[in-house]
Amino acid sequence: MSATLITVETTTQLTDDLIIQPPASGVSLHGQIEVPGDKSISHRALMLGAIAQGETQIQGLLLGEDPRSTAECFRAMGAEISDLNTQMVRVQGIGLGQLKEPVDTLNAGNSGTTLRLMLGLLASHPGRLFTVTGDSSLRSRPMSRVVQPLQQMGATIWGRSNGTLAPLAVQGQTLKPIHYQSPIASAQVKSCILLAGLMAQGQTTITEPALSRDHSERMLKAFGAQLTTDPQTNSVTITGGATLKGQTVIVPGDISSAAFWLVAGSIVPGSEILIENVGVNPTRTGVLDALEMMGADITLENQRVVAGEPVADLRVRASALHSCTISGDLVPRLIDEIPVLAVAAVFASGTTVIKDAEELRVKESDRITVMANQLNKMGAKIAELTDGMEITGGTPLKGTELESHGDHRITMSLAVAALNASGKTTIHGAEAASISYPTFVATLKQVGGEF
Ligand code: S3P
Repeated sequence: MSATLITVETTTQLTDDLIIQPPASGVSLHGQIEVPGDKSISHRALMLGAIAQGETQIQGLLLGEDPRSTAECFRAMGAEISDLNTQMVRVQGIGLGQLKEPVDTLNAGNSGTTLRLMLGLLASHPGRLFTVTGDSSLRSRPMSRVVQPLQQMGATIWGRSNGTLAPLAVQGQTLKPIHYQSPIASAQVKSCILLAGLMAQGQTTITEPALSRDHSERMLKAFGAQLTTDPQTNSVTITGGATLKGQTVIVPGDISSAAFWLVAGSIVPGSEILIENVGVNPTRTGVLDALEMMGADITLENQRVVAGEPVADLRVRASALHSCTISGDLVPRLIDEIPVLAVAAVFASGTTVIKDAEELRVKESDRITVMANQLNKMGAKIAELTDGMEITGGTPLKGTELESHGDHRITMSLAVAALNASGKTTIHGAEAASISYPTFVATLKQVGGEF
């Protein structure tokens, strides 16, 4: 069988075009691969390492653009963080409450997690002024979801659009504890409040409508924070003033990155891929549940716990998928995987409905509109809902010119669709993949069998 043509061309605007052309006879995907470190855990390891006492060692840190932004911000506030391109990244913590006033604006780049989590720490450092910004995508994303509860704790924050958009300026204050009922299930909001609560005197509680990823809770506990959870009410309580101690963090592979291969391996006939060392924290495995509902053939092998996080090897084999409904409490457990699940639905029989996912509209791009428009350009039948999509599967896709909209997960989801489309697909702005998955194209070539 001839190989898939996969090339990357850099344009005069210094953006990348990713070109994918499967052979007319089709292609099957094979290989044993690993995916880069979990993005959420990588951010938290850098941040907690910076505010702990002593050294934190991080193995398997994601070398994507987003964690690089976090590392730069904390270096600018006095944390010593070793070269990120090493097997074991070392962070010399400066201790709780010891972040220094940076001499310039902190830049969170494209990373909502960097900006929103960091705000909780900045707001709780009395006597210091911080200014924070990001790229054009981040500057358009809502910050009121963290600014409002922080203001209830006594924070002083200014920003564009009445303090709701970056750039933001933060005058650190002594914060008071609150009980915050979050209107959205968001780990970024939860983590921001917990980090602010570290420095408030007394107990800070956050309750969310459905459970979002719990990496902050796990890692804060491991570093020595006083933290309790109430699974009945989806509440977390932190007691301020604990001393955090540097730890060894082993970052598992990111299930959000594995999701591209889970879908690719399911939809491309004849495929079998083994993805080793993937984090399978139950607050993140909604993608496995959704694909199981769709009839995917995925097995978890070698299940174990590594440094407080569940890990497994995932084996996917191609299978005939059918439609499902994705809604309710499942949504926060697969929020970042919806773009690639939309691709799975395009190749599934029946009509898949995705709802309760309005959060997708305020991610790195409006992922509802962008995915519907881009996949429809290839011949898919997707209707936008205000809070999701209705996807009628079973129409073959044709390669065409597509736009990433600067969004890493859109780029990679469209690449997966292209593997199962006829003809040539060109994805403009494909450099965005390096936000969370800098080695994506190399692995695509490996499993696609190029050359
Ligand atoms: C993240 C939480 C999620 C997710 C994002 C990473 C985190 O965002 O979409 O990619 O690391 O806390 P929300 O908290 O806005 O849902």
